[in-house]
Amino acid sequence: MQNSSLVGFNQLLVVAVTSWLLLGCYYDRADHLYGQGGTSDGGGVVLPCDTTLVVSFAGDLLPILDTHCNNCHSATAPDGGLDLTSHAGVSQSGNVGSLVSRLRLPMSDVGSMPRNGMPLPECNIVLFELWIAQGAPNN
Ligand code: HEC
Repeated sequence: MQNSSLVGFNQLLVVAVTSWLLLGCYYDRADHLYGQGGTSDGGGVVLPCDTTLVVSFAGDLLPILDTHCNNCHSATAPDGGLDLTSHAGVSQSGNVGSLVSRLRLPMSDVGSMPRNGMPLPECNIVLFELWIAQGAPNN
């Protein structure tokens, strides 16, 4: 003979624990994969960045750099000695310098880029990573 109130309690416990595990996985995954500032669908759902893109230096990256970086990283005496208006400067910093790691520093870190500005959206940072993985072409 089973105690029916105990069975009811056990079923409730299973439902509670299962929901907790599912919700826990959902949030862990979104945070880990997309980070803060990934593209949003406007309804608060964070969408994954498209990692299948072939990134264009001139078409994708230069406009981002011109908007967020090149007030400081251009002309004859660029900040940090780094000119981000040319393929040479960007590919060098991307391949052997600190470009991507600076973009990923929290705003509270004095070395974060853009200096004194909001961090770039996650999917813009991913564009730089993809481009470097694709051989940092001058395309
Ligand atoms: C308001 C000015 C300013 C803006 C905007 C800015 N930077 Fe900088 N950046 C600096 C200064 C100043 C330094 C040198 C001090 C330091 O290394 O933190 C620097 C250094 C760097 C360095 C390290 C250079 C090296 O090789 O030591 C990188 C990489 C960099 N910036 C990337 C960027 C990128 C990418 C952006 C745009 C997303 C950006 N910065 C926007 C001012 C700026």
